[in-house]
Amino acid sequence: MASSYPNWHTFRDNAILHSAGEPGEPDASKGCKSGSVGRGWSAWETKSRPLTRHYFLKSLLGSNYAAPIDYPKRILDVGCGTGIWGREMAHAFPDAQVVGFDIEPQTPVSHALEVPSNCLFVQGNALQGLPFANQDFDFTHQRLMVAALPARAWPYVVSELVRVTRAGGWIELVEAADTFERIGPVTKKYMEWWHKLESKTGFDASLMTKLPTLLIKAGLSQVKDRVLQVPLGTWGGRGGELLAKDLHAIFVNLKPVYCSQLKLSEKEFDKALNALPQEWETYQTYFHFYLAYGQK
Ligand SMILES: C[S@@+](CC[C@H](N)C(=O)[O-])C[C@H]1O[C@@H](n2cnc3c(N)ncnc32)[C@H](O)[C@@H]1O
Repeated sequence: MASSYPNWHTFRDNAILHSAGEPGEPDASKGCKSGSVGRGWSAWETKSRPLTRHYFLKSLLGSNYAAPIDYPKRILDVGCGTGIWGREMAHAFPDAQVVGFDIEPQTPVSHALEVPSNCLFVQGNALQGLPFANQDFDFTHQRLMVAALPARAWPYVVSELVRVTRAGGWIELVEAADTFERIGPVTKKYMEWWHKLESKTGFDASLMTKLPTLLIKAGLSQVKDRVLQVPLGTWGGRGGELLAKDLHAIFVNLKPVYCSQLKLSEKEFDKALNALPQEWETYQTYFHFYLAYGQK
């Protein structure tokens, strides 16, 4: 197992995040009225944020995958969300059949994207097993499911990813965890609340720091992993700015859960929430993503 920190400058300067009109690119000039439609911030928050996240991660990795896949014929994306990863893989591998799997039906934002003829979507619940035959896929991918799968479900879901992948095929996981570097007092406080909430709800983001172990325990070989260290905030350039907005928006959305589960007052929570972005700038905080892949 090898961990490495990619060169941040590759990501920060990557054209993907700077090209005008990229899907998912927020247009601040269009204002931020709540409920507005079009390409303003509000629309970005609700519709395009997942696409921004996709371009962000692709840019960070320099690719849509890291495993040494070789002309896969069948590709599966579990928890595919908008399906943008699968659509791009379908273009990259025109001879392959790509299947996106998600508990939700394809949403309006994803319908607006073109669906290549070699890409299809299947609805289902990964917690109830994958509706695919043994050894059906050459490459199985799962990304950003940390908040979707309770800690106790991870070994089962990974065993399902392994079951539907053929012998010699590859499985790749990309996740966010609960690890930061150079944090200030507000982030520390927020993470204390985070961990209390996790102990009440059965989720455990720290498990994402052990993805290689999960894959090895599931019987995979050639397991490799990477820790992707990303600046949080404008101090890290355009990518850092987008990540900070995304993470902050996720925290904002979780406010009702925090306040009800931890009996926090809205005032106390808002105070911390409002202070986080500036603290990330002041402390030049880093956030981590984790990637691991292995061969069946
Ligand atoms: C944070 S999104 C990640 C989407 C996509 N993988 C990406 O990287 O942009 C998590 C996705 O998992 C889906 N999901 C949540 N629970 C699931 C389950 N039990 N089975 C299948 N999909 C699930 C959600 O509907 C959502 O689309």
